[in-house]
Amino acid sequence: PLPQVLAGKTVTITAGPTREALDPVRFITNHSSGKMGFSLAEAAHALGAKVNLIAGPVSLPTPGGCKRINVESAAQMHQSALEYAPQSDIFIGCAAVADYRAASVASQKIKKQGDEITLTLTKNPDIIASVAALPTSRPYTVGFAAETQNVAQYAQGKLINKGLDMICANDVSNSNVGFNSDNNALTLYWKKERIELPQSSKKELALTVMQAIAEKIK
Ligand code: PMT
Repeated sequence: PLPQVLAGKTVTITAGPTREALDPVRFITNHSSGKMGFSLAEAAHALGAKVNLIAGPVSLPTPGGCKRINVESAAQMHQSALEYAPQSDIFIGCAAVADYRAASVASQKIKKQGDEITLTLTKNPDIIASVAALPTSRPYTVGFAAETQNVAQYAQGKLINKGLDMICANDVSNSNVGFNSDNNALTLYWKKERIELPQSSKKELALTVMQAIAEKIK
């Protein structure tokens, strides 16, 4: 049994990809499997927290003791995040949220046309930035940064620009870690501190991340 460093705390975590419909049969998504976010949920529960897990479309079982809220699109994840965040002590955005969605979703299947077609996309709301900007009942807000280059610079930029307390950066150009793999390597950034967590299982890393957060909110 682990020391219950999150006893009495509520943690809300987003996990997995989002799915942005183009028409009744097609959508835009990404390679997130949900493993990292589900591991965080399991770790938070093991440390004594009450856990809400807002999950995009993934095929993973719900970790024991966690409340799962299934969503598909970024808009649905945004709505659910704004409902649960104000009741939470900690909010972690581990989902790979689509930055853009189709400007209009076709009501009928899009027919095959000429050799090229153009898709117009429109920006989705930034979920973690809107949680970090809550005027009252703002939870300790932790983001993730998935980068393929300039990892440190881009992650620190997101920490500041999105108004986060902490960000966990991973290099998703290496297929041994990041999307879909059972393993990952993370660098945790705060405004004035960083911790490097070398390659390990997502389950082990999740426990270390949750313990680091527990230490910060003490
Ligand atoms: O699911 P797995 O297969 O286990 O893979 C794990 C992971 C690689 C998906 C995970 O570790 C990870 O990096 N998650 C964040 C992915 C991502 O979308 O990163 P980003 O750098 O594009 O976004 C930065 C932050 O803003 C993230 O906290 C993201 O949740 C958030 N965001 C992004 C766009 C948006 N519209 N709203 C958001 O809240």
